[in-house]
Amino acid sequence: MKRIDYLRYHKQEYFYKEQEHLFSKLWIYAAAVPEFDQTQSSYVLINSPIGEVIITKENDQFNAFYNKCLHRGHPIVSEPYGPLRLICPYHCWSYESNGHVKNIPFAEKMYGLNQSEISQMSLKKLSIKQLGDFLFINGDDFPIDIEEQFGEEVLNNLNKTKGMLNKTFASLSIELNFNWKLIFENLRDCVHPLYLHPTSLTQEVDFFATFKEPVINNQPITELAELSNFSRDGENKLPPEKYKSEFMCCDDGKSYLNWLLFPYTHIPSPDGGTLFAVENFVPISPNKTRLDLSFFITQATGKTPSLAVFYEWFEKAKVVLKEDFVAVEGLQKQIENGQDMQNLGDYENQNVRINEFLDREVYAK
Ligand code: FES
Ligand SMILES: [Fe+2]
Repeated sequence: MKRIDYLRYHKQEYFYKEQEHLFSKLWIYAAAVPEFDQTQSSYVLINSPIGEVIITKENDQFNAFYNKCLHRGHPIVSEPYGPLRLICPYHCWSYESNGHVKNIPFAEKMYGLNQSEISQMSLKKLSIKQLGDFLFINGDDFPIDIEEQFGEEVLNNLNKTKGMLNKTFASLSIELNFNWKLIFENLRDCVHPLYLHPTSLTQEVDFFATFKEPVINNQPITELAELSNFSRDGENKLPPEKYKSEFMCCDDGKSYLNWLLFPYTHIPSPDGGTLFAVENFVPISPNKTRLDLSFFITQATGKTPSLAVFYEWFEKAKVVLKEDFVAVEGLQKQIENGQDMQNLGDYENQNVRINEFLDREVYAK
């Protein structure tokens, strides 16, 4: 067994270090392509741990910048989605899709700015990368290559979703009372489904394949790519349903696909490549996490598919998530009540390795 202390789940100083060395340095999930208007230029506003970020799409080109007006810092947009009209409501400065200033009313008279000075002005930009139908941003001035953060398997399998997602999707956000790391440790825990989800998830997926022979690796993490992974977690027990012929499939159509993307994104595809959930457990404070959850389905193969399967899945997923959240909120409560150490077994070696990595690369800095 390995002993890991609990301070990292509730102390502010640990959270500050995570903000400084993880969230503002790594690639983080931003949005999915179907969230943008298909017919005209549009934007999506996201609330990330490094601030509010506007993602714009114009002529298939994506840009990302902070939602903070260059004049006095007022938010430029407040709606989560919209057409590309970026005009700050305070004094009407307007911006182009790439974040450059477009117009300042009374520029010369009130601000002493001429046209050539205005053309040099731009909102603070972030780097943006598309992986399949998903977009990731990086707020560092000198971002690492995304290939350094996500290994080949993660990238190749994500890239299979390119152009595949349907424009019909569903989203919701809820605030949860636990540290963001606890829910990921739970997601990497292959024993808990048997006991925590006996009547939900375990009825649908055969988890015994991964349960019987845990792959044990006690080597320290040396590459960032080891913090994330893609896996096929057991075969679907249910017979293939009719909807599968009505929608495209990005993978084998059989396994439970799982992307665990460090730091805080989980993408499961329970039917092997048709239904996709994106779960972002966005860190808000040491003991608060906001789940931004979106459900996607692939493009239809014919003209009149039924979306009933999509809504049924939404209902089923809610049951499993709730079972996890009750357990993890229970852990958080005990931690804050003064429990100081946890004892992790062999099968939890990836959680141990990640915590040891955080000790070395984040908390000790
Ligand atoms: S703060 Fe945006 S125009 Fe003044
Ligand atoms: Fe679970």
